[in-house]
Amino acid sequence: CENKWEALKQKAAQQGCMYIHDGMKVGLGSGSTMVYALKYLGELVKAGLRIQAVCSSDKTEALARELKLPMIEDPSKISLDINLDGVDQIDPHGNVIKGGGAALTREKMLAQWAAKTIWIMDERKIVDKLDQYLLPVEVLPFNHEHMRTVLITMGYQVTLRKHQGQPLITDNGGLIFDVRIPIGKTMSQAHQELIQLAGVVETGYFEKRLSTAVIAGSEGIKIIDF
Ligand code: A5P
Repeated sequence: CENKWEALKQKAAQQGCMYIHDGMKVGLGSGSTMVYALKYLGELVKAGLRIQAVCSSDKTEALARELKLPMIEDPSKISLDINLDGVDQIDPHGNVIKGGGAALTREKMLAQWAAKTIWIMDERKIVDKLDQYLLPVEVLPFNHEHMRTVLITMGYQVTLRKHQGQPLITDNGGLIFDVRIPIGKTMSQAHQELIQLAGVVETGYFEKRLSTAVIAGSEGIKIIDF
């Protein structure tokens, strides 16, 4: 019953928008939960809410412009009051994996530029430990086959993400490796190791920061402050 999950995503999205107040500069993440948030924000803006937004992906930006969400005009002044985004997995400490939509690098930039992030999701995203999940890693295309070999030598299992049979190209012109980390390594250790390699642009591991998770489940909405 896909509709149930869609309804929960929409609930979380609308609740997440309650953290956005008049005059705020807002980071807008990507993904299907964010689509609900964007549409709701569109209604709030139409009703008079004044915000300025910056978007984490071309897709989000296209929809935000269609919904007439005002964008931050001066790119040198993107200190954000709040960042709103979905997650792929979140652990009980507030650490997150993102990148299912391949927008992880810009999403992490917005999260770092924001005073606080609001994570919106349905309850399927909560997990005990992140370590067994795939870590999306954005890499430069230059000799990526060799980069893949390097990672495999380090003990990672690496799959190049494809779209319609072709390597998926990110909004930054990068590629995505979906990486299974070696047993015994934590996600944090894997991130630290991978981010040091030239050619790795960013990983989808978001270490806990000042954030609130808005989680919609069959028993209502749960709010967790990290
Ligand atoms: C985009 O790169 C991702 O990080 C998304 O934010 C994440 O995959 C959540 O997407 P859904 O809201 O579609 O589950």
